[in-house]
Formats: sequence, structure tokens, C-alpha cells
Amino acid sequence: MTARDVSFHALRFGRSAALYETRARIQARMADALVDLWGQRPAPGRVLEFGCGTGLLTDRLSRRFFKASVLATDASLGMLEAAMLQLHRPGYLDFSEQDAEGSAPPAIAVAARAPYDLIAAGALVQWFPDLGRHLRFASSLTAPGGHYLVSGFARRNFPELNALLSEPPFSYTRFPGHDPDAVEKAAAASGWNVLAFLDWEEKEVLPSPRHVLRMLQDLGSVRDPREGGRMNRANLEFLLREYGNRFAEGDGVRLTWRPWAALLEKASA
Ligand SMILES: C[S@@+](CC[C@H](N)C(=O)[O-])C[C@H]1O[C@@H](n2cnc3c(N)ncnc32)[C@H](O)[C@@H]1O
Repeated sequence: MTARDVSFHALRFGRSAALYETRARIQARMADALVDLWGQRPAPGRVLEFGCGTGLLTDRLSRRFFKASVLATDASLGMLEAAMLQLHRPGYLDFSEQDAEGSAPPAIAVAARAPYDLIAAGALVQWFPDLGRHLRFASSLTAPGGHYLVSGFARRNFPELNALLSEPPFSYTRFPGHDPDAVEKAAAASGWNVLAFLDWEEKEVLPSPRHVLRMLQDLGSVRDPREGGRMNRANLEFLLREYGNRFAEGDGVRLTWRPWAALLEKASA
């Protein structure tokens, strides 16, 4: 991912901070799944979180590991501000700007506390086409034997929307996300053992295709228009119409989510 992509997504997420948590039901369940994956392991001392957003996972991590020092980071200042306004744990929880994709160096505040016993990232890595690069970056900040609690969305997330977007007049060829086999392969190649992996599917019915797009916008899940495809007014109307025709269900239209959550352990060198 280039600096251009990062600033696009950070900007989008910054704009959606106020609405994000009202919409982020799946992301909240992903955060619960991550904390559950930790099981009965001893609590970590130092925790680094990437892409903390408004703090859904941060809150759960700092409650579960209440004696740990948690550094929550995000590339979007808007999201960091939203998290800082909600979460106050002086002496235990700090915040810092950090691009987690893996091409930028660690911020001074992040490097100063490394190595970390636990890295965590909820619903972030689907934006990183080069997952291996991100995982190597995470590994470089992790103590030997340390862990990474990471969740994301499969490449096959939103099959309804992606089916339409892959056809003319859009003809998108790049879709965010990583399917389970791609995650396992990238982890193994980047020095992580997969200790636990969960993936699941959730279907929801929304009143109309416009509600689908509005919800994705409120979640900041909007693709960079410069990646190609043609989303002008006429094509948008076409998309809404086709979505309604092809994916009608009950009193509305279907949207299928495919999240995953994993517990990784840094492999010994
Ligand atoms: C879907 S939100 C998830 C937020 C939170 N982790 C949660 O579980 O609700 C993704 C977050 O990743 C951040 N983000 C996007 N690209 C990033 C990057 N390259 N580096 C760090 N954070 C990034 C966004 O600003 C946003 O806050």
C-alpha cells in the first residue's frame, strides 16, 4: 500500500469517527472474539494496538489486561481523538499516531516501548494488500514468544456488492481482504505461528441498497475512487437498482459479512 492509499483510508475513517460505533456491530463482535481467543494465557505486560479507531478493541483489551500498559495507535487523527475522548486510563493507556501498513518506521512513542508482549489489531488488515509486509512490521516490534491478536475480513466479504462491482460498467479487479488460507500463508512466511483461527459468516437484511451503501460509508469502508472503476451518478443508480433486483431478501436486501480472527505467536528465530 502506498502513502497515497494510507492517507485516503485514514481520511475516510477520520470523517466517519462520529458515526462509526453506531454501525460497528460486527466489528464489536470481532473485538470480543479476539479477546476470547486469548483464553487463560497469562496477561501481557506491554500491549500495542494498531488501527484502534474509536477504541472498541482498546476498551476490551484494557479491561481484560487491566495491569498492562496499552499503547493504542491509528493513522487517523480523527479516530485517535474519538478514542481519547472516550477512554481515560492515565498511566495505563496512551495514544500515538502510527501507520501500521509496514512501510513507515515506528513512531518515536511506539519504538520507545518496544518490544511488546502483545500486538492487537481489529478489523484493520483487510486494507493491506501486502499482508506479509504488515506482519513483518508487527513481528519487528514483538518480544520473542510474543503474540498478535488480529482480525480482518475475507476477500470474499460482501459477495453481493463485489459480484456487481466486478462486472461492467465497474470492472473492479482489486478487492480488500484476505481469505483464511492467505492469512495462514502470510503468517507462516512472516515468522508467526497460527495458534488459533476463527472465521464465520453473518448475513443481515437492510431495508434497501441505499442503506447498505450508507452503512458502509458510516463505517469508513469506502474504496479509493482512484483505484479505478467508474462510479458516476448513472453507475451508482445502476448499482442500486441491480443490487435490489439480485439480492432482495425478506423486506429488504441481503449483505453478507465474512470476518475472521486469529491468535498468532512469534516463531523463535
Ligand atoms: C474498521 S476501523 C477498526 C477500528 C477498531 N480497531 C475497531 O475494531 O473498531 C479501521 C481503523 O484502521 C485505521 N487505519 C486505516 N488504515 C490504517 C493504516 N495504514 N495504519 C493504521 N491505521 C489505519 C482507520 O483510521 C480506522 O480507525
